[in-house]
Amino acid sequence: MSNYRTIGKPHKHDNARQHVRGASQYIDDKLEPFGTLHCAPGYAAETCGTIESIDLSAVKAAEGVVHVLTAADIPNVNDCSPAFGDDPIFAQAEITFHGQVIFAVVAKTRLQARHAAKCAKIKIAATKPLITAKQGREADSHILPPYNFSRGDVDNLINSAPHKLSETFIIGGQEQFYLEGQIALAVPKDEGEMIVYSGTQHPAEVQHTVAKMLGVQDAAIVCETRRMGGAFGGKETQGAQWAAIAALAAHVTGKPAKMRLDRDDDMIMTGKRHDFDCQWSVGFDDNGTIQAMKVNYDTRCGTSADISMGVTDRSMFHTDNAYFYPACDITSQRIKTNTVSNTAFRGFGGPQGVLFAERMIEGIAIKTGQDALDVRAANYYRDGKDITPYGMKITDNIIAEIMSELEKTSDYRTRRTEIEKFNKTSRFLKKGLALTPVKFGIAFTLKHLNQAGALVHVYNDGSVQINHGGTEMGQGLNLKVAQVVAEEFSIDLSSVKITATSTEKVPNATPTAASSGSDLNGKAAQNAVQKIKQRMTKLAAEIHNLDIHKIHFKNNKVFCGQFDMTFAELAQQAFLNRISLSATGFYATPNITWDRDTKTGNPFLYFSYGASCSEVLIDTLTGEMRVTRVDILHDVGTSLNPAIDLGQIEGGFVQGMGWLTTEELVFDEKGRLTTHAPSTYKIPTAFDIPEDFRVNLAPSKGNMADTIYKSKAVGEPPVMLASSVYCAVFDAVASCKHGQIPNLPAPTTPEAILTAINNL
Ligand code: MTE
Ligand code: MOS
Repeated sequence: MSNYRTIGKPHKHDNARQHVRGASQYIDDKLEPFGTLHCAPGYAAETCGTIESIDLSAVKAAEGVVHVLTAADIPNVNDCSPAFGDDPIFAQAEITFHGQVIFAVVAKTRLQARHAAKCAKIKIAATKPLITAKQGREADSHILPPYNFSRGDVDNLINSAPHKLSETFIIGGQEQFYLEGQIALAVPKDEGEMIVYSGTQHPAEVQHTVAKMLGVQDAAIVCETRRMGGAFGGKETQGAQWAAIAALAAHVTGKPAKMRLDRDDDMIMTGKRHDFDCQWSVGFDDNGTIQAMKVNYDTRCGTSADISMGVTDRSMFHTDNAYFYPACDITSQRIKTNTVSNTAFRGFGGPQGVLFAERMIEGIAIKTGQDALDVRAANYYRDGKDITPYGMKITDNIIAEIMSELEKTSDYRTRRTEIEKFNKTSRFLKKGLALTPVKFGIAFTLKHLNQAGALVHVYNDGSVQINHGGTEMGQGLNLKVAQVVAEEFSIDLSSVKITATSTEKVPNATPTAASSGSDLNGKAAQNAVQKIKQRMTKLAAEIHNLDIHKIHFKNNKVFCGQFDMTFAELAQQAFLNRISLSATGFYATPNITWDRDTKTGNPFLYFSYGASCSEVLIDTLTGEMRVTRVDILHDVGTSLNPAIDLGQIEGGFVQGMGWLTTEELVFDEKGRLTTHAPSTYKIPTAFDIPEDFRVNLAPSKGNMADTIYKSKAVGEPPVMLASSVYCAVFDAVASCKHGQIPNLPAPTTPEAILTAINNL
């Protein structure tokens, strides 16, 4: 056990009690300032084409309408994109996807705004849309240039290998389905100044987008985010448009204005996980050892670039998952389509790369007649030796250990034999089993995002306020950072008050994403605390005429040789002696050297590892499927908080399971999303949680990298543990006809399972 007071303890989420009582304040729970107006977005019936005319007279005449916003109301720049300038807040001449916002109604009530938004008459000279990645690829429609990692004479090596497979694999997208929808409340302050409360993972970007739209300096705009009711990547960039609309409404009317998207609109108008069309080949020997592989991903990015570059790059970074490819050729095509712009979603492209790798392994196993687990083991990275397709040496590898430990504790081999027996005698019900690894690289692959700031105040009474640039979306980041502060001062967690994220307190913060929230902000907070502690230590030493090494902070007290005083007493002394009790902290992740142009350097500080074993039962007559048992072993280094970490692992796994089983996004031939509500889009419910769910943290080996208390990031990696569910379904389907490789896309809906069985 560690000697820490607060770190490593299973403290419950700081708002757990409040959340379950419905008492936590989300933006829509905030008392509305007097006269708050409400916005609703309006769009056209068509998917893409040129806007011929917009008749808003009926909208303006509708009850309660105060103003109708269009691009003409924007004083400066009509753009809410994170980088490329290609996301208009309001479409002007052209529309490029179904659901693209053309205007927004500002009315006295939200219902009035929503009713009025339906009254517009918009004429579009429609053009034929490109909907699927395949259509886009055929039309040579790219939003960003393709990117490639390659080494070795891949084609020759595949052709000359003892065995070869060439297949295609379709991986579906996913809706973030945060419980709290997109929302913002803008409140005008003094002339030209505004505060925007926004449900965003990136307040600094919202601040900047609003300032740029209004033509004011960033310093005139404050963006505050207390918490989000889930974000999952869907609010990394795509909270900005709604904040901009609320801010514009406030600017034009001089009144506070709120923009809360309706659920259906939210699903139609905001981006999702990218879906992939993978075309691949692999050459391997009799034990399934891979000699060379090649994959091309056609990825539906949608109408604009958003952050698709980072997402699709990460798919490439994780195409190896846990496996060494001596020769490989990995290409990503970033396809521009007339659909909503896809964006970040937990795993940020990694899950698609990992799932592809696991699907490839399953194919090799069938072809060589082996257990897929043996094929996996034949291909694991060897530590300190093997180089990834992007040139990074793996030096913190624990894949083999974690996998063989879970193989034992999940009783994999015995269950495999039992399942084979069961499948031989059971005519209609079939079982499947799979044990898959996860290796996930931690850091933003865009180097400059790997920085964070914090602001710590100690008050005279010994209480502490902590602020940092990260945002809370349920993942427990605030609690983890508060634990760091409590630990560093050696005071009780109850003395550390967490406050809202605000661009006023920590400027230029990067988004809370890439699972690096606690790595970055934990270190920044530690840095701030150390500065204050140094000043307090110096003062205590002076008071008692001691060397500073004789001063120790312990258990809410400060020990000074034979004397001691409470932390609060020393804080009081500092005040009386005119010593500052406030400090900013800063952190920049070291050793990130990735250069995208030359494809050299290390994109990651370290890797998080995990393994999961899933068993499923399918009904070959209906295609129905149930996950009957799941065992997980996941590595979080030295856990900052095992309760939070277990929650992240369970939640991430179940969210990944939803992606791969029941959550299906269906666009019709006109590019209209037909699954835009929970009635047609099925996220997992409590009943879908595996009946037998055994989740454990791997025994801590710490982290070889110098992270905060040697912990490892945990937010995203567990999503990829769900590939074992896909592979188990694949295994169950394959058991229907010996030696045949099923054609099973993800998600494995009942339709997909039945079709795959029928096509065997
Ligand atoms: N957990 C909850 N409860 N809600 C969320 O929205 N987002 C995930 C993950 N876990 C999310 C979550 C995503 S996409 C990321 S990148 C990380 O949390 C971000 O937080 P962290 O960096 O502090 O782990
Ligand atoms: Mo997470 S997809 O990096 O917001």
